[in-house]
Amino acid sequence: MYSHHQLVLMITGTALLLHLIGLVFPAAGDTVFDSHYAIDYGQDHVKFLDPQKTRVQLSLDTVSGARFSSKVKYGSGFFNMWIKLPAGDSAGVVTAFYLRSGDHALDEVDFEFLGNRPGENISIQTNVFANGVGNREQKLVLPFDPTADYHDYRILWNPHIIMMYIDGVPIRVFKNNTAIGVDYPSKPMQILASIWNGDYWATDGGRTKIDWSHAPFSAQFRSFDVDGCSSSSTHDQDCASTKYWWNGDKFWELEEGSPKLWYKAMRTLITYDYCTDTERYPVPPPECPSNSYL
Ligand SMILES: *[C@@H]1O[C@H](CO)[C@@H](O)[C@H](O)[C@H]1NC(C)=O
Ligand SMILES: *[C@@H]1O[C@H](CO)[C@@H](O)[C@H](O)[C@H]1NC(C)=O
Repeated sequence: MYSHHQLVLMITGTALLLHLIGLVFPAAGDTVFDSHYAIDYGQDHVKFLDPQKTRVQLSLDTVSGARFSSKVKYGSGFFNMWIKLPAGDSAGVVTAFYLRSGDHALDEVDFEFLGNRPGENISIQTNVFANGVGNREQKLVLPFDPTADYHDYRILWNPHIIMMYIDGVPIRVFKNNTAIGVDYPSKPMQILASIWNGDYWATDGGRTKIDWSHAPFSAQFRSFDVDGCSSSSTHDQDCASTKYWWNGDKFWELEEGSPKLWYKAMRTLITYDYCTDTERYPVPPPECPSNSYL
């Protein structure tokens, strides 16, 4: 499709683009952690980085990882987290930002950052579970160093579409395809962030293990404001209302123009896509054609 040279130019261009968008996209807010979130795992592996509690650090060592979650569940929203990943040798360490319903037939939308050896770029894996079924992994290599600074990761979830963004650039689309029999997350979900030992799968398919001599591994999080509709019931009609800006028709589709171009540029960084894994899915999953803009 592209020559190698064009590809390199495009990836370089994407890194530059991300940098430029970073300058115009809203900066991280300074909402205090306690207003929407609480620690729910590994209390002694959590540290607030300022007295106002606008930044929090989660650490992983041989004893424990850590996790925090929103105090309530949401039925729709445009969720964001600014994250600075563990620096240095983080192979096998997984940092995650995700939405999860927490019941048996799980609904879940995941960002998982897969740590790596120094000099090897960090990958991000995304997945969508609906009614207990996931297996929808996509993976891309980040074209920047996510350990050097905070970056903005977002999940839009409304009745029409789920979109995932890095620094304002859409990288993944999962539409509501219930009309063709594909389940779509519909249960109230909590916002979670965590750090954990994923070395049985995360790096080189599990062959590269955590080097514990570099522990503790620490990820930092900020921007604890929440644009979401708080809810406790499935298919909450109030949370579907267009009185919430993220449900408006501007957010029903990947927009034409720059967003679509940026999305396409990011696709060149994809290293795995379940939609094109013909060994695993000889017949592509039914949602794939409408979620791809290539
Ligand atoms: C890896 O990240 C560096 C910046 O840290 C970037 O210049 C390079 O293009 C990235 N490589 C790939 C394959 O994305
Ligand atoms: C998905 O779309 C259908 C209509 O095709 C709608 O009835 C349903 O409420 C939507 N799901 C969610 C979670 O909004």
